[in-house]
Amino acid sequence: MLTNDILDKWDRENFFHPSTHLAQFARGEAPNRIVTGGKGIFIEDRDGNRLLDAFAGLYCVNVGYGRPEIAEAIAAQAKELAYYHAYVGHGTEASITLAKMVLERAPKGMSKVYFGLGGSDANETNVKLVWYYNNILGRPAKKKIISRWRGYHGSGLVTGSLTGLKLFHDKFDLPLDRIVHTEAPYYFRRPDLSMSEADFVAHCVDELEKLIAREGADTIAAFIGEPVLGTGGIVPPPAGYWPAIQAVLTKHDILLIADEVVTGFGRLGSMMGSDHYGMTPDIITIAKGLTSAYAPLSGSIVGDRVWQVLERGTDENGPIGHGWTYSAHPIGAAAGVANLKLIDALGLMKNAGETGAHLNAQMRAAVGGHAHVGDVRGEGMLCAVEFVEDRDTRRFFDPARKVGPAVAAALLKRGVIARAMPQGDILGFAPPLCLTAAEADEVVHKTAEAVAEVLG
Ligand SMILES: Cc1ncc(COP(=O)(O)O)c(C=O)c1O
Repeated sequence: MLTNDILDKWDRENFFHPSTHLAQFARGEAPNRIVTGGKGIFIEDRDGNRLLDAFAGLYCVNVGYGRPEIAEAIAAQAKELAYYHAYVGHGTEASITLAKMVLERAPKGMSKVYFGLGGSDANETNVKLVWYYNNILGRPAKKKIISRWRGYHGSGLVTGSLTGLKLFHDKFDLPLDRIVHTEAPYYFRRPDLSMSEADFVAHCVDELEKLIAREGADTIAAFIGEPVLGTGGIVPPPAGYWPAIQAVLTKHDILLIADEVVTGFGRLGSMMGSDHYGMTPDIITIAKGLTSAYAPLSGSIVGDRVWQVLERGTDENGPIGHGWTYSAHPIGAAAGVANLKLIDALGLMKNAGETGAHLNAQMRAAVGGHAHVGDVRGEGMLCAVEFVEDRDTRRFFDPARKVGPAVAAALLKRGVIARAMPQGDILGFAPPLCLTAAEADEVVHKTAEAVAEVLG
């Protein structure tokens, strides 16, 4: 077995890590972690640390680590047939079964599932489908996509443009044209503190209407949004937000893409965030929780309205010119089938709702009164703590002080992984859906200690 010294050297010399300070890493100034194993909600590393992963990897290991049911399904599929493509009508028992299982769990009005590899490529697919849809309908100018500031939809060219976070645009020449952004449904950061939630929803609607008027409804194809803002700060929408937005979209004949990469398959205590918030999307993006990250797999669930037009398009133009070599990869599909069965068998959706509510309530009780905690919020098995310099005026800390990362580091020292969200001093929690109430209490207790260490 390689020694840790050798691995560390090879790592820094050869490996381009995503979302990493490349120069510091190469110089040996930023830490690395060589992960060796995982069981339940814990991971282990080569230095002998056992860490409680309160972010489930990147909010994806929903069933927890080390589930033999999924590992065995992957091994069985690899032995029987590791790969065949899905072009021109090919499939496997796993991919066909998974498409059926996904549709059984999707909101009403959904028609078919296209499988990709990750959330970014699924959203690329969605944008292409929306453009194709409007070309078939004879509306070639109706192509722009509205996203929200602080939305996260991936980091490709189009999806990085949809993402409404500075870090993902700056120096990459993004966003591309055809992508426009509107107000984030982030009540805590409302422009005027005197606004009620209802006022703020009216403000979001007004901003959207103004954007549509400015751009012209006949140039706008779709609106994309996460039911709960994820990487932008873990922010559940204010009450009434989705029905109000949906009404505007319907009025202007704009499609709705619900990006359920984080919220799909139980994280909110419901199967889909769309059902949770009364959304009726035309397309749904799924990834992460589809396989609990045991294998890469994503999907675009296409609703009836779009599907009818796609069929018409292929009657008029021939086969759809879209697909990846690894679309519906049999190993990913086998992992997906085993994962969805396990979520049902273990009652994880219900647990996400119940234990998630406990986690949120305990977090609020433990740190909500702290002088530098401005907001504790969450839904299901998602929770966030946002830090401020001054509670009364909601004055934020200077970002250069890196308060969020400092609290995350203090928590890590105590053996708990949370995520310092990229824009703001926000500590995010998205544990595996199998978290118990006792484990939630441990997360809360250690968070309170970490907050006290950094902020007094
Ligand atoms: C809501 C949402 N959409 C899309 C993506 C992109 O997925 P991936 O990183 O698998 O490309 C993410 C990733 O975090 C996400 O949270």
